[in-house]
Amino acid sequence: MMNHPTAIELGKLRSAARVAAGQAYAPYSKFRVGAAILADSGKIYSGCNVENASYGLTNCAERTAIFSAVAAGEKKLKIRCVVVYTPTKLATAPCGACRQVINEFGPHARVISFCKSADIIDTSLDALLPGAFGPADLK
Ligand code: THU
Repeated sequence: MMNHPTAIELGKLRSAARVAAGQAYAPYSKFRVGAAILADSGKIYSGCNVENASYGLTNCAERTAIFSAVAAGEKKLKIRCVVVYTPTKLATAPCGACRQVINEFGPHARVISFCKSADIIDTSLDALLPGAFGPADLK
């Protein structure tokens, strides 16, 4: 399945997500998140959560990574894989808002979350957001 990264790609994604978590701006929750996405182009883009004193304006790591890819010029972005890292005991899956944004560019993306322990979530966007509203519904 083309959305499954190679071992080398997965290693790079994990490393990029871990580095990104270190860049998190999370003074309110202290919950650091890093994400890395693998585009169809073969490029990897990463992002961290960026919080705000007006809490609801916070941008999650996953969306930061996706928006960075588009801003970098991925005009027809297709996401193969999303990797999330949190320096926690348990792995955390993307929030609902991020699932919807992943759906826009990678409705069948593989989604892998890992953390400080061996705990891991290895799933797909199809499983995380069944029956999603997407671009095709607008046509
Ligand atoms: N957060 C993410 O970055 N990604 C998620 O999928 C869930 C939550 C961030 C938002 C906020 O800065 C902190 O984690 C606590 O919710």
